[in-house]
Amino acid sequence: MRRYTFPLAILTWLAVWAALRFGVQPPIPVSVMGLYLAILTVSILVYLIADPERFEAFLAPLVSLLRERRLAVPRIAVLTALPLLLGWMTYSGVRPQFDPPFEARTIHPEPPAKFKLHGSDFDVLKAQRPPEMEANEENLAAGRRIYYRNCMYCHGDYLDGKGHFAEALNPLPANFRDSGTISQLEEGYVYWRVATGGPGLPQGATPWNSSMPVWQDFLSEDEIWQVIAYVYSASGSTARTWEGH
Ligand code: HEC
Repeated sequence: MRRYTFPLAILTWLAVWAALRFGVQPPIPVSVMGLYLAILTVSILVYLIADPERFEAFLAPLVSLLRERRLAVPRIAVLTALPLLLGWMTYSGVRPQFDPPFEARTIHPEPPAKFKLHGSDFDVLKAQRPPEMEANEENLAAGRRIYYRNCMYCHGDYLDGKGHFAEALNPLPANFRDSGTISQLEEGYVYWRVATGGPGLPQGATPWNSSMPVWQDFLSEDEIWQVIAYVYSASGSTARTWEGH
């Protein structure tokens, strides 16, 4: 049995690593994983050291690898591979990253003239808020409910684009308090953006990988008008109009 102490110790370590790495959902964050593996390594070492004979048996293959004449080739291989491996790990840790920086959309892409809203044509440029959807108390209250149920996670409870999920998204969610976002836009345009989300953006629009959902899949036409009214009113902005140019 003593002969197997070394491979068994390594196998135990690998088995626990594999269980943590592949057996736990959602995946364990790298920093926590590092902690677990450190504890695992220390526990195995404590177990080995607790019995001097066991520890000697564990070290035996290492000692013979370093000393025995017949193991010269594996010895040289291991002694070359170790510094290379460490060097590579250090290099990949400090290597500059070329991921694009987090950015907010500042340029509003050209809208299509029309898009399909629940199957029928919606004219982005001529769209008018229906009179019964005006920003009265009832519609604003409904819009507020819709906003806090659906939009807050990304666009923030202060409508400043700093929702819980915002940090993880690139491009960042729009900050409705910024004068560069909805106050630059007409309501028809905003309606198009809300109804078709990131997937509705034209091909050439960058950053192209917007996480903004396609809200016409979840909200009725009236609900979209209501949430838009709320977003304008709560962020203190007004929509651009043709007359106001
Ligand atoms: C999963 C996160 C997420 C959710 C939830 C979300 N959005 Fe967005 N939204 C984004 C991101 C990211 C952008 C910026 C990229 C873009 O323009 O598509 C954006 C952009 C927008 C824009 C465009 C603003 C501009 O200036 O161009 C509007 C309008 C908007 N969102 C409204 C809403 C409304 C209303 C809701 C709720 C019904 C909502 N969003 C829910 C992520 C989200």
